[in-house]
Amino acid sequence: MALTLQMKTNEALPDRVRLVEVGPRDGLQNEQAVALEAKIALVNALSDTGLQVIETGAFVSPKWVPQMAGSADVFAGINRQPGLTYSALTPNLQGYQAALAAGATEVAVFGAASEAFTQKNINCSIDESLQRFAPVLAQAHADGIRVRGYVSCVLGCPYQGEVSPADVAKVAKALYQMGCYEISLGDTIGVGTPQKVRQMLDAVLEVVPKAKLAVHFHDTYGQALANIYQALQMGISVIDSSVAGLGGCPYAAGASGNVATEEVVYLLNGLGIESGVDLQKLAAAGWAISAALGKAPSSKVGLALRARCADNDNQT
Ligand code: HMG
Ligand code: MG
Repeated sequence: MALTLQMKTNEALPDRVRLVEVGPRDGLQNEQAVALEAKIALVNALSDTGLQVIETGAFVSPKWVPQMAGSADVFAGINRQPGLTYSALTPNLQGYQAALAAGATEVAVFGAASEAFTQKNINCSIDESLQRFAPVLAQAHADGIRVRGYVSCVLGCPYQGEVSPADVAKVAKALYQMGCYEISLGDTIGVGTPQKVRQMLDAVLEVVPKAKLAVHFHDTYGQALANIYQALQMGISVIDSSVAGLGGCPYAAGASGNVATEEVVYLLNGLGIESGVDLQKLAAAGWAISAALGKAPSSKVGLALRARCADNDNQT
């Protein structure tokens, strides 16, 4: 009986997951300023791990998020690997044009399921945000650039509190109908638990096909891996994560970083789900950026692998 149940559970899991590495953007936007060379070294190291998509920067107002001010220099300095996607956040046409000039190969617009968060984050209402995104999508379509759409606050809002699954579905549907090829559902403040994830995904899956959805979970309350497992069981096969668990959101006080990519890869390896990522190289990228920031990696897997390496070095 137990075996049958186990097999049934695993049947629903995807064979392969695409990881979207958001550390250089979501991670570094909420860390102390880090030198351009360290940012470039991070993207280059991540490019060598097997990751296919790296969110490399954001073309937003430098007055609002100064940490992302040098994004064009990061794009100019990296060694691009063929076939990899180097994406950028673009809140409006001005950001889109700057991202394109810098050589971003994909862009992302970002909205939220909460009015209050939308106002704080991008200084407009949800309806206005969709109006601003429309010309970005039209121009990107004409340029042959794919646009991802984020929905923030899908499991709670730092200003409004509860957010209904219906509100999440409404914004996800609008972004999808507008032409975003993928909708990333963000638990911006990491408050969700698996049951909430299920309720939210049930609502969104009514209006957006599962193959077009990604999950983007911050780990503030330590629930991100459990929430990812719930999403995997519902057939979601794109996961956003941040090497070394970097970052947070500048408009969500107290929010900690995204789930660490190392943790996600370790989980996927254990489940026999292919991600194409070399965990050892990934952990090394995490150690290097953490050292540049003068802090320990917040990834438990990163710390465990570092301790094991140090142990091996001592024995030889
Ligand atoms: P605004 O002040 O309402 O914009 O900001 P505006 O159109 O009135 O322009 C004001 C000034 O900003 C002007 O400059 C514009 O040129 C400039 P001034 O004349 O005063 O010198 N400006 C820009 N500069 C550079 N790049 C641009 C740009 N647009 C206007 N693209 C705006 C509106 C959206 C620009 C602003 O609110 C902003 O940049 N917000 C950034 C918010 C942000 O980056 N938040 C973090 C990312 S979202 C996130 O982390 C969540 C996510 O991870 C998912 C999750 O976890 O849930 C994605
Ligand atoms: Mg985020």
